[in-house]
Amino acid sequence: MGRAVTTVNSGKMMLEEIKKALEFYQELGFEYLPFKAVTSNELRVTSKATNYEPKSSLITEPTLSRRFGTKGHSSHVKESSLKSLRETIGDCKRCKLSDGRTNIVFGEGNPNTEIMFIGEGPGMEEDQQARPFVGEAGKILTSLINKMGLKREDVYIANIVKCRPPMNRPPQDDEINACKPFVEEQIKIINPKIIMTLGKTAVHTLLNIKTPISKLRGSFHEYMNIPVMPTFHPAYFLRNPKDKWLTWSDAQKVIEALNK
Ligand code: URA
Repeated sequence: MGRAVTTVNSGKMMLEEIKKALEFYQELGFEYLPFKAVTSNELRVTSKATNYEPKSSLITEPTLSRRFGTKGHSSHVKESSLKSLRETIGDCKRCKLSDGRTNIVFGEGNPNTEIMFIGEGPGMEEDQQARPFVGEAGKILTSLINKMGLKREDVYIANIVKCRPPMNRPPQDDEINACKPFVEEQIKIINPKIIMTLGKTAVHTLLNIKTPISKLRGSFHEYMNIPVMPTFHPAYFLRNPKDKWLTWSDAQKVIEALNK
């Protein structure tokens, strides 16, 4: 009898734990669990895939931990360098995007952060408010940042181009080339431990490659000696919410690397 009660109790506890885990995933925005049943054949394939050697463009764990010993400029030096970079940009007319913009969206956040998020370019809300990622895609990014245990104010957020492309079209090569030195300088000044790129424009511009984002995401790459984790653009999840877990899995790798 005593044994039966214990079994019922531990069953109840297990159900409670499962309920808590499901609520946790729901809070993260999952509409179904990111697991699938695997057959024994698939299991064999998976175990082969774990023997995979990283390509030379991917950085290895020791490189990551070495990077974490590096200290950049002090916070107020970084702040004033960013301020003078903003002054250098001025009322920029270096490309045709200046014709349609309301505001230049320079970027914002903690200059002493360990992590930078880099997107493509401002949308309508960002153009109005002169702040990056404050529209619908911004809500998704902010929620990702929070789920990573951080606040928006803890990180630095910037874009490849600082002016809104007409009708939110992707920025063109001449526009990217005119603006790229500014994001490069922001990265140099902030010198983060990790960069998370959002969408293809950011990763293609920084790494100077054209590999599809689906092949790049999920592994660390390197830009100016800084580990780069490419992931999907938050706007992608407005249409494909069921894929949010892929970015969450990329973010978990970033958290792990930051904690090393
Ligand atoms: N999309 C971007 O890439 N950047 C923003 O700031 C907003 C939307």
